[in-house]
Amino acid sequence: MPIIVVSNPKGGTGKSTTSLVLGTTLARHGASVTVFDCDPNKHLVAWRDGPSASAVKVIGHADSSNIARMLKAEAAERQFVVADLEGTASLLVASAILAADLVVIPMQGSAMDASQARRAISFIDDQAAAVGPRPYQVLFTRTKPGFATRDERAIRDTFIGAGVPMLKTDLAERAAYRSMFTFRQSLEEMDPTAVNGLDKAIENADALVAEIIESLRGMRKAA
Ligand SMILES: Nc1ncnc2c1ncn2[C@@H]1O[C@H](COP(=O)(O)OP(=O)(O)O)[C@@H](O)[C@H]1O
Ligand SMILES: [Mg+2]
Repeated sequence: MPIIVVSNPKGGTGKSTTSLVLGTTLARHGASVTVFDCDPNKHLVAWRDGPSASAVKVIGHADSSNIARMLKAEAAERQFVVADLEGTASLLVASAILAADLVVIPMQGSAMDASQARRAISFIDDQAAAVGPRPYQVLFTRTKPGFATRDERAIRDTFIGAGVPMLKTDLAERAAYRSMFTFRQSLEEMDPTAVNGLDKAIENADALVAEIIESLRGMRKAA
């Protein structure tokens, strides 16, 4: 089943957070999910070592010599595969993108992030030139709920003009998404009296997952 790769050569754009939110949200809805942790910081492997009862499986030992085969092997067994990639343009990143059904490119709404996201897109487009379409979508992360800054609006307009596909749903800035790594739990497992805005964070995660599933369906139909 689908392989969703989360990639951006820039660090700190929200790749690991997005990967964990996607993986645990899909699992909460009953899907079998494997998340590949290809970030050298291994935040997701550390998360899995914690107390969470989430059924997400985390694989932390894939490397550039086997990542595509490992992704495909998991995809044959599981309903969803998510891969959190390292923040560089490496051989591993290239192989993972080649194996992906969808590349999600998280970025924050700043000009610096936008230019790095363009690098990520150019990298993907170059692979597409060699092997055929590599579907991707930009995901805005750490946005203020219900409020788009002038920078964000300007970047979105530029991307729309350039035909860059963007997810309508953002992953907003929420303490709950950070707390998942602190308590090593999924959103629904955390204590709402200890973590602010849990319900909103879950609502946002559900909307993001729903939109990604919808766009995967659209791609399957088009293929
Ligand atoms: N939606 C979000 N809400 C709150 N904090 C976030 C969010 N996304 C990322 N962060 C924080 O931003 C920092 C970088 O995020 P991370 O997911 O590690 O990025 P990357 O994997 O791309 O390097 C971390 O401190 C993380 O907790
Ligand atoms: Mg990371």
